Amino acid sequence: MHLSIVRCLLVLSTFVASGVVRAGDAADADAAARGFHLLTEKPFLTSDFSQKVFDHVWMAWPKPLRREAEKASPEQRRQMAFDRYGLTTRPGDDSGKPLQYVVDAEGNWTMNCFACHGGSVYGTPTPGAPNARFALQTLTEEIRATKFRLGEPLSRMDVGAMVIPLGTTHGTTNAVVFGQGLMKQRDENLNLITSPPESFVNHDMDAPPWWYFYKRPYIYIDGFAPKGHRALMQFMLIPENGPEFFREHEDEFRDVYAYLSSLRPPKYEGIVDAELAASGRKIFETSCAQCHGTYAASANYPNRRVPLDEIGTDPVRLNALEIEGRRKYSRSWFAHAGEPGEQQTIVNPSGYVAPPLDGIWASAPYLHNGSVPTLWHLLNPQRRPTVWRRIGEEIDDERIGFQIEVAEKIPLTEPDVAVRRGYFDTRRFGKSNAGHDYPDALNDAEKRAVLEYLKTL
Ligand code: HEC
Ligand code: HEC
Repeated sequence: MHLSIVRCLLVLSTFVASGVVRAGDAADADAAARGFHLLTEKPFLTSDFSQKVFDHVWMAWPKPLRREAEKASPEQRRQMAFDRYGLTTRPGDDSGKPLQYVVDAEGNWTMNCFACHGGSVYGTPTPGAPNARFALQTLTEEIRATKFRLGEPLSRMDVGAMVIPLGTTHGTTNAVVFGQGLMKQRDENLNLITSPPESFVNHDMDAPPWWYFYKRPYIYIDGFAPKGHRALMQFMLIPENGPEFFREHEDEFRDVYAYLSSLRPPKYEGIVDAELAASGRKIFETSCAQCHGTYAASANYPNRRVPLDEIGTDPVRLNALEIEGRRKYSRSWFAHAGEPGEQQTIVNPSGYVAPPLDGIWASAPYLHNGSVPTLWHLLNPQRRPTVWRRIGEEIDDERIGFQIEVAEKIPLTEPDVAVRRGYFDTRRFGKSNAGHDYPDALNDAEKRAVLEYLKTL
């Protein structure tokens, strides 16, 4: 069989393995398969580190773990590194390569979109699921230390992380600031310009899943940017990629767009009480659907924006993007992709848009900053934990979300920074778990029914 056909089949089997339903016609499916292949095989950024550096990164770990790694086989050590940084294998692919990085023939590792948008759904690597384990700051610091030890040059990310925090809690990143900072160094046609150094509002966000991308007319939690293949290219604004880079790779991002549009959420495989879920659906349709839409046969997504003072969730993200920045975006190359039915950029959104809840059981933690560990906590605003951490890979199938441990505070004496960054402290800047009090209108039995229904989406 021709090699590229073999590869195509491999990619398609990946789709099946990851629970993806192929939507649309065969041409769409081909474009989607090409899109997935591009994201995992083609580096669009400069390389972050070499295989050699990754293989030695354990030497930068705190003592007990380093001892353990020293005694381990290379394979075990690699697995330990994958676990520490939130990396997974690729479904249906036994190359051992991480889903989250492109690894080329020379062994250069380059971060891809799956670093944040490809995680494990309770033990199953799932492209398009938020990567709730990604430890970008810890990985970057330990890679940097390893490069010093091996005498290898630092990358952009290694240097950048000394000035901009990449993410203070594992599973969340300061991703919005990367885009903001890089866009400041461009004009509207993406030519590089010099602009005075500025300070941005650093805050961490939980990446949204991609499996409801097909439903959304606008993207981001405030829904300011119309959907389009060009909008997906912002992540590549590093200075090495000149304005022509974006034009040259535009067609490839049509395939990436097709890939994102083809994704659907994985199905909940635990027990569902169908009767309870049916009564939950009725409650949902009167109390929640006006914002979150309806599902299954009668699916409808209203794309409803709720003013900040009404929703009451953390305000930092909304205020961090200024009107001027959005206005510039609206005039830029990214905002005009020529897709059918293209919408206008919304330069001054007043609040957050209620996301679709497709596959919501699989995308803990909840709210845009990832401050709420389970759906039960989302439905019980008064009972949300102030400081918590995830303590296992399995789902909490009572509360639907992470199995957690509640703490008084982050243990600052804990020597391993990776453990400290596993705690979520909702008292810190940008990490509030307040708001979205709508479930307060329901009694416990009604909440129980809604929770059952949410499992089926
Ligand atoms: C470092 C982490 C990170 C990486 C890498 C990353 N993203 Fe994201 N992405 C985010 C975060 C966080 C958000 C939420 C931003 C917001 O709502 O303001 C987001 C939002 C999005 C959305 C909007 C989804 C929605 O429904 O609102 C799309 C689409 C998207 N990213 C595509 C991509 C693509 C394509 C790439 C690679 C070219 C990429 N992302 C790389 C973190 C990341
Ligand atoms: C008035 C509009 C509105 C109503 C009514 C509403 N929500 Fe929401 N919901 C939102 C918005 C806006 C967000 C995003 C808030 C954020 O992330 O800061 C949200 C977020 C959520 C999330 C988290 C999504 C995620 O990906 O993290 C869940 C789950 C949810 N709502 C469930 C419900 C349920 C169940 C009900 C009914 C009891 C409900 N909502 C009622 C507007 C609403």
